[in-house]
Amino acid sequence: AEEYHLEPKPLHLASDGPFGHWDKQQLQRGFQVYKEVCSACHSLRHVAFRDLEQLGYTGPEVKAIAEQWQIEQPDVNPDTGEADTRPNRPADHFPLPFPNEVAAKAANNNAVPPDLSLMVKAREGGAAYIHSLITGYRDQPKELLAQFPTAKTPPGLHYNPYFPTLNLAMPPPLTSAGQVQYADGTEATVDQMATDVAAFLTWTAEPDKIKRHQVGYAAVLFILIFCGLTFGAYKNIWRDKK
Ligand code: HEM
Repeated sequence: AEEYHLEPKPLHLASDGPFGHWDKQQLQRGFQVYKEVCSACHSLRHVAFRDLEQLGYTGPEVKAIAEQWQIEQPDVNPDTGEADTRPNRPADHFPLPFPNEVAAKAANNNAVPPDLSLMVKAREGGAAYIHSLITGYRDQPKELLAQFPTAKTPPGLHYNPYFPTLNLAMPPPLTSAGQVQYADGTEATVDQMATDVAAFLTWTAEPDKIKRHQVGYAAVLFILIFCGLTFGAYKNIWRDKK
């Protein structure tokens, strides 16, 4: 069924390319999608609440986001020594939605929802793949079934031509416009929500990307100026000789 697998559709983000920048409004919308939809199943274990300040949230806003997060941090009761939980703090990383793999599988038709922190780096196609995957669910093509009758999508799995094996355990997470009410008033079409969450996951995978580019350009500029000075000094030193 190789020919039914599709390459991701092109996706353009503000952070693309050597002169890209973070669109913080978009990253905040993408975070909202993660928070309200994806976080029910997917962890973001490499990201701490306080990292959200890079998206333009203030310290008190981050504190409130952490405190109001549905899943609490695992903790130990200091009096009894028993397992307990406590509200999240800005320094905490995002908590895991399931206590362990067995629980995760039990809730997801025997598949573990992978951590999303580095997903953009882990999958070929990166953000474009995530956008295409989320918006790519459809009915299984008739021709595929005619050609390979045994390839029928098994119960509990979902057909998606962007997924390498064509059938995956994740049900379509974004199914209707307005599933998220954007704080900035942007119209939440399915495509917009998928684009925004892909942009957000680009940031989680490489939060220092833009800064790294900027430092690189500053370094190149310095080297160019330094070359000029060196050349000038060389000319000066040898001016009277020959
Ligand atoms: C897999 C993204 C919401 C359950 C995945 C993968 C991505 C992803 C990128 C990896 C696909 C791969 O391996 O190449 C998202 C995003 C979500 C979202 C961006 C929110 C918009 C959810 C929700 C659930 C869920 C709400 C649970 C109801 C799963 C499961 C898998 C998965 C079980 C593993 C699928 C398999 O390997 O067959 N998701 N997801 N996801 N997701 Fe989600």
